[in-house]
Amino acid sequence: MERCIEKASHKNLTQLELLAMSASYNLSDGHARQSLTISQQKIIAGLPDLFAQSMREPFEELERGAQRALLHALGQYSYPQEPGRVLSCYASSVAMVILARAMVDTVSTVALVHPTFDNIPDILRTSKFDLAPVEEEVLHEGDLVANVPPEAGCLFITTPNNPTGRVLTADRLALAAQWCAERDALLALDTSFRGFDVRAHYDHYAVLAESGCRYVVIEDTGKLWPMQELKAGFLVSSPNVRLPLQLAHTEILLGISPFILSLVRSLALSVAAEGWTELHQHIAMNRTAVRKILSETQAVSSPDPDNQVSVERIAVTGWDTRELWSTLREGGVEVLPCCQFYWAEPERGAPYLRIALARDHDSVSVGVERLRDLLLERA
Ligand SMILES: Cc1ncc(COP(=O)(O)O)c(C=O)c1O
Repeated sequence: MERCIEKASHKNLTQLELLAMSASYNLSDGHARQSLTISQQKIIAGLPDLFAQSMREPFEELERGAQRALLHALGQYSYPQEPGRVLSCYASSVAMVILARAMVDTVSTVALVHPTFDNIPDILRTSKFDLAPVEEEVLHEGDLVANVPPEAGCLFITTPNNPTGRVLTADRLALAAQWCAERDALLALDTSFRGFDVRAHYDHYAVLAESGCRYVVIEDTGKLWPMQELKAGFLVSSPNVRLPLQLAHTEILLGISPFILSLVRSLALSVAAEGWTELHQHIAMNRTAVRKILSETQAVSSPDPDNQVSVERIAVTGWDTRELWSTLREGGVEVLPCCQFYWAEPERGAPYLRIALARDHDSVSVGVERLRDLLLERA
């Protein structure tokens, strides 16, 4: 057991996800791996035309079209549209690196939601920021003034959060924005999972603009569509942001592939026309199956009953889930232990596993049945 715990504890989440890549039942990473919908199949069948079109179309027009299509499909009508306000990046992690680079001279402490996906604190720590954990409960229902360190130059929130799926309401976003505006701190949001939850489709940019705070938002397509990592991250900033984001962006990249932007635009226009229901139903069916199968054992409960995003956290009693993770791997089932999400206090993640839901139904059911069988066997 000691060895399993050590093995799971000494890797970051992405390293654990990499170990899972070739597993029979890979329910580990939060990237989309389910089969294509009919509309997506049609878009893929048209890739040669999309490629030719992206060679012909002026880049600026194509980039603005992709950004607009995605942000409008997500209800974000008030995003700032002046040149330079939306920077296209290869992935949301790259947007995060650019943000960290741009903040380095003016921010020392970042108040960061706890728990959250570990590559966010990892990137911030690499840039030598002091990190102050802000518990989800504080962000969603607590007193920000009493609980967020006043010296923080940036308040960073993942909404919906990974792995809990918690979504910041418009009222709480307004409070966080007010906290930042009053201190001239930067409000940073990672909204990579917002496509999964209509509660995150209210117009965040209208709320942010109303507050007058300095903000950045990392928007992402990487979790939404099963496109084999053809994806984009968009780093959106307020006109008053006062950070050298464009400089940091050009220090890292010239621009992202026009072909990928074309693909993003097509996918976003398709979802805008047809709605999010098909994706939401797919995830909801998998979540229901996970909960039903695991209800057959006394050991499992659902700590996030309202979660709608494409990952499901479960609490398992009687196990250190790092050991459970290791035992499941031997049977070809890959999930994630949760200690690393609790980047300030890893032991708090020990009761939890995270199961990816953006997979085909059979793969989720069979993988979770194996988990159930193991728990029943060892009960
Ligand atoms: C909330 C959040 N932001 C950013 C990322 C990084 O995404 P990518 O690997 O596509 O850059 C992840 C990865 O799962 C994530 O969960």
